[in-house]
Amino acid sequence: MRQRIKSYSSTRRSFLRGGLAAPGVIGAALIANAREDDDFDDRPTHGDINILRFLSALEILETDLWQQYNELGGIQDSEVPGGSGNKPYTDLLVEIDGDMPQYIHDNTEDEFTHFNFINAYLMSKGAEPVNLERFRTLKGSTAPGAQNIKRLTNLMELTVDTTWWGRYRSRTGNPDFGDKFTAVIPGLLKGKFPAIPRSEKDLTPPDHLRAIVNTAAFHFGTIEQGGSSLYPSLAQRVSSVEVLRILLSIGPTETMHFQVWHDKAGNIKPVTDPTNGLVFPDLGTFDGNEDLQANLIMPEPTVFLSRSFPVCSIIRPTETRGAAAGAVAALKADGLFNGQSNAFFAELNELAAKADMAQRRV
Ligand SMILES: [Fe+2]
Ligand SMILES: [Fe+2]
Repeated sequence: MRQRIKSYSSTRRSFLRGGLAAPGVIGAALIANAREDDDFDDRPTHGDINILRFLSALEILETDLWQQYNELGGIQDSEVPGGSGNKPYTDLLVEIDGDMPQYIHDNTEDEFTHFNFINAYLMSKGAEPVNLERFRTLKGSTAPGAQNIKRLTNLMELTVDTTWWGRYRSRTGNPDFGDKFTAVIPGLLKGKFPAIPRSEKDLTPPDHLRAIVNTAAFHFGTIEQGGSSLYPSLAQRVSSVEVLRILLSIGPTETMHFQVWHDKAGNIKPVTDPTNGLVFPDLGTFDGNEDLQANLIMPEPTVFLSRSFPVCSIIRPTETRGAAAGAVAALKADGLFNGQSNAFFAELNELAAKADMAQRRV
């Protein structure tokens, strides 16, 4: 095999030197080169392992939050067991879109498969899988339908950043250039709000529960657009082609989730929460305003790499430097980890720091 590759390669070299060869020879040379590449050492580097371990941790945390949504507002079945549904909460989700419980279920199952796969892959390479069970200390919802178990994430004190709404509509701004964007629901940045009913008490009055459902609808998009950026950001520092394939295959599923949630968030009904004043405006009033119009759910082309290039429709941000630490900081700022221990943050920060130190093998 190796002999044959060498002889094909020398044919290719003489072709390159001489500048003349029959088309069949060129084809054979290209195939031979591909075979030669197969012999390349594709073992994951330490950096690859650290990137995968960080992603596994985030997928575990995503799974935990999606599990809480599924117990109350999704479909509880053998694929995603746990909980028994909360009818008032689910009814208002269904007003946004009749398929919301199915989408919540599917997003939840996807997250389970993401961390299970990454952990299994790590073990297959002799690396340590990620386990965050010792940090499962947070009290969850006591509303009917929720499991009475401890959680890793907190969906009851969220400060949801909805600037992604404007960011994906902007034709001139990109967070990788330091540009800032307006939050479509500015009130969500000015307090701590539940995205699930904390207890039976949150099921009334109706406008309070609707505000909780609307908070969830925007939080879904906030979470999944984060994943949409994180995978391409980290992929730039992966060395093994197989690990790159993992990132390039999981990342776009986060984007598929994001696209759905982006669309669904545009269907919320306007409401003001009578208990805390949180305002969800009538998104229909933004029609004609291209920075906020609800149906502009596909990424508007914008500046990429350099403002001198033509605009391009892209995921944003995708800066690789500090991407892991940035993701942790964003989730922390959202309140998702409120109540978590110092040991939890130490562990997560270390996983992120190691992922951010990974360098692409050249
Ligand atoms: Fe995921
Ligand atoms: Fe996700």
